Amino acid sequence: MKRTMRIILLPLLLFLFATGFSTRHAGDGQALYEHHCVRCHGADGTRGMFGARNLQKSLLPDTAITLQIMNGKRVMPPFKKKLTPDQINELSAYIKTLRKPAI
Ligand code: HEC
Repeated sequence: MKRTMRIILLPLLLFLFATGFSTRHAGDGQALYEHHCVRCHGADGTRGMFGARNLQKSLLPDTAITLQIMNGKRVMPPFKKKLTPDQINELSAYIKTLRKPAI
């Protein structure tokens, strides 16, 4: 009986652990985006306020995205003092999910 419980519980725990992690991740990037970026880029990346680029059409590679978030560009402010490298990575991952078709 004990053994059966363990066989059932272990995969269940692993499953909860894994899905918990992935949703937490996506959620963080999205929350950061909503807090710092939506006013110019819009929730779906297309708002274009102050000439903000359409993030659905952006093809920037990861390193360029990271640099742009850190240093800003023209109207876009730099975020390196406001965000940690981890947060910038989360944001970078999140904005790529806005791309259409997703890359
Ligand atoms: C004050 C408005 C503003 C805010 C806030 C802002 N951006 Fe921008 N963003 C811009 C503008 C303007 C550009 C276009 C810069 C240029 O190339 O002239 C841009 C361009 C970009 C690009 C480059 C896209 C490309 O393909 O060239 C990325 C990536 C980006 N923003 C991500 C973000 C993220 C992530 C945040 C939040 C941390 C953010 N932006 C916050 C205005 C803003």
